[in-house]
Amino acid sequence: MGAGAQDPNAHKEAATAEHTIRQGADGSFSLWSPRFGEGFHSRRGALREARETFLAPSQLERFIPGQRLMVVEVCVGTGTNLALLLEDCAELGLELEWWGLELDPAPLQLALAEPAFRSQWQPQTLKTLETLSERGCWQQGCWQQGCWQQGCWQQGCWQQGAGSGRMLWGDARQTLPQLLEQRRGQVDLIWHDAFSPQHCPQLWTVEVLGSVAELLADGGRWISFCSAAAVREGLRLANLNVVALAAEAEGVEGAEEAVKRADDCLKPDPSANQRRAWSGGTLASRAPLAPSAAWRRLTAMEREHLACSAGEPYRDPSATSNAADILHQRRIAQAKALTLGERSTSSAWRKRWGLQQGC
Ligand SMILES: C[S@@+](CC[C@H](N)C(=O)[O-])C[C@H]1O[C@@H](n2cnc3c(N)ncnc32)[C@H](O)[C@@H]1O
Repeated sequence: MGAGAQDPNAHKEAATAEHTIRQGADGSFSLWSPRFGEGFHSRRGALREARETFLAPSQLERFIPGQRLMVVEVCVGTGTNLALLLEDCAELGLELEWWGLELDPAPLQLALAEPAFRSQWQPQTLKTLETLSERGCWQQGCWQQGCWQQGCWQQGCWQQGAGSGRMLWGDARQTLPQLLEQRRGQVDLIWHDAFSPQHCPQLWTVEVLGSVAELLADGGRWISFCSAAAVREGLRLANLNVVALAAEAEGVEGAEEAVKRADDCLKPDPSANQRRAWSGGTLASRAPLAPSAAWRRLTAMEREHLACSAGEPYRDPSATSNAADILHQRRIAQAKALTLGERSTSSAWRKRWGLQQGC
């Protein structure tokens, strides 16, 4: 094991859950976690989700070849998102500095043992994932052995897929402070792919979101599949600008038109609301972003959602609470806010916007 490498088995005790192998609608490899009672990816499939939810709004094409891109993945799981990122960075000639926060080494080991997963990736990508799984880090640079310096790309000796990565094994709540010490305000992209807040509230608390917000560089982006009001409120409390990832390809004008329609609507059209998925996730940044087909500002309906009971954020000041305790404390905070008139009920909000229970 090289310098800086970590023993992935050190956290075996926490990784007792078994996983079931699944396939998404796009045919790509995925897992189900009985421990968290949830699949690793949406029904669309792991690859499609990685491309549409994480990669597309990251807009890697805004970085110039040879530039260093710093990415943090909160919950690495099978490594699907990382594999896609590695291949895209190699294609665009970007140097990747990657950090992964993950509790359990088993999903990546399982994926690497499966031909269905392996067949999705280039040999070099698999080699990088294997090194990461075995050693907890990887480093790849210049064609010339022993040379490891910036600027090599301009001289033509920079290897496609250059970069380095390091896994911080363990509970992300405990490893985040370590990362903050080293990379505060420097991260270009944070891909937050934890299990959903109801199943894993530990990673969606104001404390965790506050820490990841501190990691972001000025032009950095935090991206997630999650559209929950409590999470968006947590991001807002971390002083981030929050937009919704487009649910479907609407185009810039289409997205703005959708917001305007919803904002102007004094009597919202319930059937339209129920038919339409609101958003494909959330993007947060320090500064407001220019309009794009990939995201749109929050509608009046979504902004009201943050102000009602559903927007009560998850909290975990000790960074050690379990899911049941965090959910329980949130219910207490919701009841208090209702009594004090600080928040309205989610059912009143649903009624106003003509939404069914569970929306
Ligand atoms: C939805 S899956 C991640 C999916 C992943 N992006 C992929 O492509 O496979 C969630 C992951 O979060 C990890 N996890 C759960 N609780 C965690 C914690 N407290 N800290 C770090 N990782 C955690 C699980 O082990 C699991 O691998």
